Amino acid sequence: MKFFIDTANLQQIEEAQALGVLDGVTTNPSLMAKEGITGRDNILKHYVDICNIVEGDVSAEVIATDFEGMIREGEELAELHEQIVVKVPMIKDGVKAIKYFTDKGIRTNCTLVFSVGQALLAAKAGATYVSPFIGRLDDISTDGLNLIAEIRQVYDNYNFATEILAASVRHTMHVIDCAKIGADVMTGPLSSITGLLKHPLTDIGLEKFLEDYKKGNS
Ligand code: G3P
Repeated sequence: MKFFIDTANLQQIEEAQALGVLDGVTTNPSLMAKEGITGRDNILKHYVDICNIVEGDVSAEVIATDFEGMIREGEELAELHEQIVVKVPMIKDGVKAIKYFTDKGIRTNCTLVFSVGQALLAAKAGATYVSPFIGRLDDISTDGLNLIAEIRQVYDNYNFATEILAASVRHTMHVIDCAKIGADVMTGPLSSITGLLKHPLTDIGLEKFLEDYKKGNS
């Protein structure tokens, strides 16, 4: 299972990278705005900065919603760095754009996916990743994890190469449940990764080991 961090915050990306378990980064226009990154040139530079921190894939989202605009932006993004994956929304022109990028050898992440049918279309178009937003489904009392399980079943039925990237992950249980279901990737905040470290018995056990070592070595 790949771990991506879902942020445009360079410090958090550095911290996750330093832990040694990071496989990539996802961003979106909201996450860029949250970090105060505005203006096309600054945004493009920020993507390159992120690529220079991590070794894995970095999703960079197009803003255009028409086919020609998405192609123009996506090609510009893909040329920025070999780690860039072009993130395209699940709309009609987005599906066409994913197919175009696939034929050109440009990798894509189909975003804003909320149903199995949408995931099927993304796979048919050749998306590298499909991003079902599980947290946002949970927010409206719909089981986000069930969507991951259903997409897993459909993709396995036909051996689709598209990787299931569980997105809008909010906490450690999302990560663990996605791993049980067999999501290929999860993207979440830093806390959803570092939270996996925690167990009170680990802390208590370590304290006891150190105490006993001191007793025998002082
Ligand atoms: O990866 C998608 C993500 O950025 C959305 O997360 O928490 O805003 O639903 P959230």
